[in-house]
Amino acid sequence: MIRINENYLKLQSSYLFVEIANRVKAYQQNNPQAEIIRLGIGDVTRALPSACIQAFQKGVQEMASDATFRGYGPEQGYNFLRDKIAVNDYQVRGADIHSDEIFVSDGSKCDSGNIQELFAGDIRLAIPDPVYPVYLDTNVMAGRTGEFIDGRYDNIFYLDSLPENGFVPDLPPEPADLIYLCFPNNPTGATISREMLQSWVDYARANKALILFDAAYEAFIRDQTLPRSIFEIEGAREVAIEFRSFSKTAGFTGTRCAFTVVPKTCMAYDRKGQKHSLHALWNRRHSTKFNGVSYPVQKAAEAVYSDEGKVQVRELIDYYLTNAALIRQQMAALGFEFVGGENSPYIWVNCKSDAWEFFDLLLKKAGVVTTPGSGFGKCGRGFIRISSFNSLENVEKAMARIRETLGPHFSG
Ligand code: MLT
Repeated sequence: MIRINENYLKLQSSYLFVEIANRVKAYQQNNPQAEIIRLGIGDVTRALPSACIQAFQKGVQEMASDATFRGYGPEQGYNFLRDKIAVNDYQVRGADIHSDEIFVSDGSKCDSGNIQELFAGDIRLAIPDPVYPVYLDTNVMAGRTGEFIDGRYDNIFYLDSLPENGFVPDLPPEPADLIYLCFPNNPTGATISREMLQSWVDYARANKALILFDAAYEAFIRDQTLPRSIFEIEGAREVAIEFRSFSKTAGFTGTRCAFTVVPKTCMAYDRKGQKHSLHALWNRRHSTKFNGVSYPVQKAAEAVYSDEGKVQVRELIDYYLTNAALIRQQMAALGFEFVGGENSPYIWVNCKSDAWEFFDLLLKKAGVVTTPGSGFGKCGRGFIRISSFNSLENVEKAMARIRETLGPHFSG
């Protein structure tokens, strides 16, 4: 008898963004005239930078001739891309990261979901609430959690991110082994200061713990005082792994390219307390289960670091940040409290009511899709996330409709 992994039965019935897509589809089927504006899932809407397109096309062209054709590439990524990442994303910012510590992949969602395979089943997990659902769900699948009771799994140490702590979780009062952090944060859009991040690194060092740092949104940081990588923090090379992506930076959500940084000095332990290199383990996993990102896509990603690419990427991010500023301004005018949208594409709005009800109100009355905060955890129950990834025209239209639906007499 073929049996299932029963840990899957502990999961919520569908992945958050699938659930939202289903609700929107059902609404559209019943209201075919309704024009929907999507400020829900963080999916980019603007074309790839022209520098990337040119490099992409050139890469495809090389595949058209036997002399320049390429088959399997290195699983870890081509050096032409890894070298550029090491210099431009790390070394110029004083972070001591080398190209052979970079693993190119097809997405941060996959990497941040797969990485937990390296760790024991009975480690103590510290996971923020609200949180990008992938960190939690992949640990549920692996059997590291108990049952789901009143919005939370047993055996997880939840790190509450609330207005009281500026949406930056406090250090756990008890030792944790594996800690997930994401800044600029998805979903709240909050950022972490250098000092706070230093305190997390110090905590990890003191507890022989590991921080999984998701920096997929670092390109949105405009405040120069904020860290863009955990490796700008002293001591992080021993206790952190970082995830980065070209998805939100350069519009690669459909093209797929990302990378994970595992420093060679980053260690974890076996049950006897012997040290093991996580770089070696991840390399083993990556080369066993992954065959590399396609050559033309890596050429397109490399172009992000060209002079024109840098200008074009900055312009893309500025575009979405202008949308974010508009969302902030409109939500403030309607009297809502929120965080994010300054160094991040997401605005986390206290909707003063049940998140799914508010989501339904905006969908049905304004034709605007947002993301209900409760989908990211218990602490998100009274919040919605508004994404700035859309055209300025659509964001203006969406905000006008929200104004009409909610203001000026809306009291929540
Ligand atoms: C989000 O909306 O949270 C993200 O786009 C989802 C993802 O990156 O997988």
